Amino acid sequence: MHKETKAITNLILKAAKMARQETSDTPEPEHTKPIQWPLHCTVGPGLEGAIACESRIGYVNGSKGWLIYRGYDIFNLCAYSTFEEVCYLLMHGSLPTAPQLEAFKNKLINYRFLNATLRLLMGFQVEKMNAMAALRLGTNLMRQEFTFMDQEEGRPTTIDAIGSDEDSIPMETIPKGEKQAIYEFKWPRQHKKSRVTQLLEEACGIEACYHLISGVATITAAITRVRQGHMPIEPDPKLSHAANFLYMITGRRPTPVEERIMDIALILHADHGMNASTFAAMVVASTLSDIYFSVGAGIAALNGPLHGGANEQVIHTLNEIGDIDSVKAWVERASAGKRKIAGFGHRVYKAYDPRARILGPLAKFLIKGKKEIEPLFRIAQELEKEVISRFGAKKKIFPNVDFFSGIVYSCLGIAPEMFTPIFAVSRVSGWTARVLEYLQNNRIFRPRAMYVGEFNKKFVPLNQRNRTIN
Ligand code: SDX
Repeated sequence: MHKETKAITNLILKAAKMARQETSDTPEPEHTKPIQWPLHCTVGPGLEGAIACESRIGYVNGSKGWLIYRGYDIFNLCAYSTFEEVCYLLMHGSLPTAPQLEAFKNKLINYRFLNATLRLLMGFQVEKMNAMAALRLGTNLMRQEFTFMDQEEGRPTTIDAIGSDEDSIPMETIPKGEKQAIYEFKWPRQHKKSRVTQLLEEACGIEACYHLISGVATITAAITRVRQGHMPIEPDPKLSHAANFLYMITGRRPTPVEERIMDIALILHADHGMNASTFAAMVVASTLSDIYFSVGAGIAALNGPLHGGANEQVIHTLNEIGDIDSVKAWVERASAGKRKIAGFGHRVYKAYDPRARILGPLAKFLIKGKKEIEPLFRIAQELEKEVISRFGAKKKIFPNVDFFSGIVYSCLGIAPEMFTPIFAVSRVSGWTARVLEYLQNNRIFRPRAMYVGEFNKKFVPLNQRNRTIN
């Protein structure tokens, strides 16, 4: 193994040791038992605390600051695995054997080549679009080119779809825990898979997922190039997923260290429980729409600054602070203005985000010799210290995945406006894996709202309504 990449592995194992020392005494929370529906749980605003489904894909332990993919600890996956192996693990449930990995990598390599899709995409003024809008457009064009879902024979009829899913159109029923929907449409069980079901499976199937995992990287790289005034770069089939992604962005084959760190960043962002973009993708999939639309929904949700984009904001914050001596006063002002500091805090983690525990040392490793980025990292270290000392114990606010990732991407030559699309390049693996898992036992997501409005209002014809009427 390359000397420096070995040093990276040691960095990760050291961070793992620290994490386990710092959180070993906190109690193991629940939420790891099979669900007996109907389930009673305490739900807060934003469905906080609501349990949407069972899953074997990933587990976030907020009080301990743990992240686990299919039973494997994130530190070990970053130390010893690759993004391709992790994608396979998330989708198939086990780490691939050598032949399985070879076959999977070859599929991803073939799906990298999206020449017709990119030709269509270049027909739009991508350089003037929000990067995530361009990415979502690209996935739509992939769908157009690779599925027949908009052709006559491809479009599922409602009855077909409900029949093939044997689910109901949920009414405002009180769940009694039936495994199947109460108003289940009786569909002859012995029905053979209709063409529609086959097409649905194709468009929500494993091949479509591989296609998207590979294609989202190609489209993101192409968007980056066009925004820089260049043409997209043809993928290199000899490179790994991470190396090829960097190559298609920069036009230069990355060093072993750059490749390794990009690969680790992709592993770290792959899956994260029921985050907003994953849940959005699953909600769309639960209607039996297709995986391309589901991934489009995930991209749309990730575009929101409370979810994606915080790492780009962190770079702006560090530049705004300007130097180490200004950190304290800046935090003082932010706190007085009740301003949310990008890169800090998390809905689930009330401990240090394990992903930040890895990205921080990687940033420090990468900045060596990077004159324009090194000062930003020093400010980030000071900001981290200041925020933790003020809000760590009191409000459980610690750095999250976005705090150091922007510095890492800047060192790899990536522009800040492409940080969120890069999040999607990785998270598409978690979105697709969780959609595939949920569709095994699908039920359309349909929560309730508490109606707190009025009843029995008397209708007033238009000509009798005056301005004061409410
Ligand atoms: C991601 O869900 C996921 O898993 C997401 C993600 C993933 O991998 O998919 O982990 C990726 O989205 C990471 C988060 C990136 N976003 C940011 O860094 C933006 C800044 N962070 C905050 O907006 C906030 O921390 C959230 C949105 C991430 C979480 O907010 P919560 O859990 O809804 O917390 P809250 O808004 O209820 O705040 C609780 C308290 C408040 O203070 P009080 O009103 O009680 O006095 O904590 C304060 C908040 O003001 N607080 C912060 C803060 N985050 C919360 N104060 C300052 N800076 C912050 N960043």
